Amino acid sequence: MKFDSRESQWIHGVCTADLKSSDVPQEQLERKQQLMSNQVWINGELKPKEEATISVYDHGLLYGDGVFEGIRVYGGNVFLLKEHVDRIYESAASIRLEIPVSREQMMADTRHTVAANGIVDGYVRMVVTRGSGYLGLDIRKTSHPQVIIIADVITLYGEEIYENGMALVTASTIRNHPAALNPRIKSLNYLNNIMAKCEGTLAGAAEALMLNHKGEVAECTGDNIFIVKNAVVSTPSTDAGILEGITRNAVIQLGRDAGLTVREVSMSRHDIFIADECFLTGTAAEVVPVVSLDGRTIGDGTPGPITRDLRKRFQALTRAAN
Ligand SMILES: Cc1ncc(COP(=O)(O)O)c(C=O)c1O
Repeated sequence: MKFDSRESQWIHGVCTADLKSSDVPQEQLERKQQLMSNQVWINGELKPKEEATISVYDHGLLYGDGVFEGIRVYGGNVFLLKEHVDRIYESAASIRLEIPVSREQMMADTRHTVAANGIVDGYVRMVVTRGSGYLGLDIRKTSHPQVIIIADVITLYGEEIYENGMALVTASTIRNHPAALNPRIKSLNYLNNIMAKCEGTLAGAAEALMLNHKGEVAECTGDNIFIVKNAVVSTPSTDAGILEGITRNAVIQLGRDAGLTVREVSMSRHDIFIADECFLTGTAAEVVPVVSLDGRTIGDGTPGPITRDLRKRFQALTRAAN
């Protein structure tokens, strides 16, 4: 599997693939050079991204059998690295995948990859696949899990969404039943989320809300959801069948530290319709205001004061970690 996307050619809002040597300053050209030779950590060594490949027999490709993490880098610091590494080891344990390096080694390798790629503000994708096997499901017939760390840049939503808020739609695709594939496992099998995201995209929404098998609010396709009503902040509990987001947990803590009541509760779409405020959290998305759901305006239709305050506190936390 080759990791080579056009997305990875974006840097500071400029698509380097579009740059010609005649129309860009030297500094940007150097950055382009650097980017073109992105170094990917694969099984204990850094390789140019073109050479960082794995077998087409890898069960990560054949079956989505593996686990991953997305992690932000702020000011050269890999943000909440220990929490992400802990989660990938927990996801791996749940699917009986033994990661062939220690947690400490994984953290050191991540920092090394970030530094080697000169990433100051960026994004890390950590992937562990089952390894290559035969054309069947039996994990005993696979060998050598592949450990991959990619350090790159990411921009998820435009500034306009952070300023004015996002419109959400509810997907008809429900979140995976926890007894089938627990959403707490961040596995390489993201089809459940992708199908819901397709529905959102077709409806013109940047994100889609997913309900669980009981019709309760679970989460969005790549973000956790919060509401604010009468100054009380609420978010679905892990019992709802969600990924226990690391940004979610950080924001719960920030809210409590700020003296707010933050509850983990079961909620319905109705609770969102009648909320004063709503926002999403995620590593890539950070804290995103939501101003409508399925055509119902939430609150006064603008990002609310508690959302804006928690967003500020989260930004301060990302800076403080440096
Ligand atoms: C399904 C899903 N829910 C929630 C999140 C947010 O989790 P985190 O804050 O750990 O990035 C993500 C992103 O990783 C996700 O994919």
